[in-house]
Formats: sequence, C-alpha cells, structure tokens
Amino acid sequence: MNQGITKMQSASGTKYGTFAGDIDTGLSADPKFLSSKYFYDDEGSRLFQEIMKLPEYYLTRSELEIFTNSTQEIFETIEGGEREFDLIELGAGDGLKTSVLVSHFIERNAQFRYIPVDISAEALNFLTDKFHLKFPALEINPEQGDYFKTIETLSKRSQRKKVILFLGSNVGNFSEEQALDFFRKLRLVMNDHDFLLIGFDLHKNPKTILNAYDDSQGVTAKFNLNLLKRINRELGADFNIEEFSHYASYHPLERAARSFLISQKNQTVTIDAIGKTFEFKKWEPIYMEVSQKYGIGMIERLAAESGFYVGKNFFDENRFYTNSLWKPAG
Ligand code: AVJ
Repeated sequence: MNQGITKMQSASGTKYGTFAGDIDTGLSADPKFLSSKYFYDDEGSRLFQEIMKLPEYYLTRSELEIFTNSTQEIFETIEGGEREFDLIELGAGDGLKTSVLVSHFIERNAQFRYIPVDISAEALNFLTDKFHLKFPALEINPEQGDYFKTIETLSKRSQRKKVILFLGSNVGNFSEEQALDFFRKLRLVMNDHDFLLIGFDLHKNPKTILNAYDDSQGVTAKFNLNLLKRINRELGADFNIEEFSHYASYHPLERAARSFLISQKNQTVTIDAIGKTFEFKKWEPIYMEVSQKYGIGMIERLAAESGFYVGKNFFDENRFYTNSLWKPAG
C-alpha cells in the first residue's frame, strides 16, 4: 500500500526501514504509535477486502460510482492530443476500481500499457494474473519497488505520456504535510504532459465518517488488532490482543479520522526479535492510523503548493468523495 512516508519519520533512528526497527521506534515513543503501512499482511489484506464491503465503509462504493459514471469524461480529458499513454497505478490494490477504468479504455480502443507499481511482489503477481485473465490483450508491465524511482526510470526510458493513478484514498494515510512532500516528489519525476488522478475522501457529516472507521461488525477493530497478531507471529511477541481495544475518532477541525488500540490494563509485552520489553499503562493508547479527509479548497491548495493545478474534480452523487485530475503547472 502506501510507501515512502511513514508517521513521525523524524522520530526514527538508524534501524528505520525494517519491520522490527519501525515497531521498536513506535513502541518506544511517547505517545506510542505503529505504522498503518504494516496492516497489510495476508490476513490484513483479507480484512481490508471485508472492510470495503461493509455498509458503513462508503469510500470504495463512492469511487466505484465515480469511475462507472465518469470514465468517458476522464478518458476524453487524458487522451488529449497524444493517443498513446502509460497507465501507472501506485499501490496495486485488488484492481477492482481500476478494472472499471481499464475496461472502458479498452472499449474506446485506447492505446495504453498498464503499469502497476508496488513494493509487494505478491500483490503485483495477484493483480497481474487477475488482469491477464480479464483483459487478455492488455499489455501489463508490473514494476516492483519505490514509486518515485520507478516513475523516474520510466520517464528516462520513454517520453510517452504517463497517467498516474493514486486511488482508494490511500493519500489519507499521510498527514497534510506528508501529502505535500509526496506530491512534490511526484512532480519532480513527471513531465508536463502527464496526468495524476487521485482519490480523496471528502469531509462530510462527522458521524458518517466515524461510522466508517467504527463499524458495527467490528471488522475495523480486527483489522487494527491484526497488526499486534502479526508482531506476535513475525517478531516473537506476546501481545494478548484481548487486552487491547479499538478506539476510533473523527476530529472535524482537523478533518482527521484516527484509530487507536487502548491498553485495557497495566501490562508488559516482550518482543523477542527486538530483545526488549514494553510497558503499557492502563488506558494508554497506541496510535495506529490517520485517515485524512479533504475539502475542495484543501485539494486546490495541495495541488498548487506541490506544482500542479486541478484540471477537474469528479464526484459521486452524494459528494462523499472525489477523484481529482491534476496537471503539472507550467
Ligand atoms: C486504505 C488507507 C484508504 O484509511 O480508509 C480502512 C484504510 N483503515 N479502515 C482508509 C482503512 C480502516 C483505508 N485506506
């Protein structure tokens, strides 16, 4: 999923970048935190699929609605003068929404290659197999690795127009500052004729947002607790997940949904791979994830400050969500 930027990078020491090192950094910090980029092991990815089907989790359905209703217009805008393009997707995901775009592009006889980029080889293989089956004639060139390096290499290799997708409100896992840094870096490796299509979740009734991260079936709670299970399994830890409970909040001024795991008692956890024990006080939170929401003004400022302008925002009927099509500013 999201890569390149994690929470509180400045707090990290020399061990930054490895799973054990990041967990050590986060659990040694005050307040404690864990990075949501580690949610997606096999079980975490499965739980996220379940989240996307929850009645409360409107984000996926909103984006799908936009793609279903606006592909024609999106296509006409990006096709522009030069017909050929590379469709580059950052973060492979399960490809459901992208397949709506891709099938429309194919119907329109678009001349394009599909290039999913991800750090996970497994996620790429899964997506590539799925797309080969669904679109046998489509040229697919998966690239494993860092987003920026990959785009830079592609830019050097060919002048062909790039249409870069960053969907699913993945940008929400960045703070506003991290988002700015991310898009500035992206701008540096893009050419003037390229496009960037980003999925932003919009601010709305705070209760609607809170419910999306505090579902009644408890799937989001399981999704968060799964990271503790992963630490137990992969790093030889002894978290008792029954002694931590999920707490979600939405702050309407900051437009940030956040999730926490709250220690239900004073407890000590040992992590063998780190060779340390960690103390948790009763009611002490571990900050797990931010899901930042946006207003249209925020999106326009973010674009301008990172060297883009908003070509067009596409909305679902409820205006819960937008896919924002950005062009590099001259
Ligand atoms: C995959 C980052 C878009 O923040 O909405 C879903 C992850 N976390 N429920 C989001 C998530 C809790 C999701 N993103």
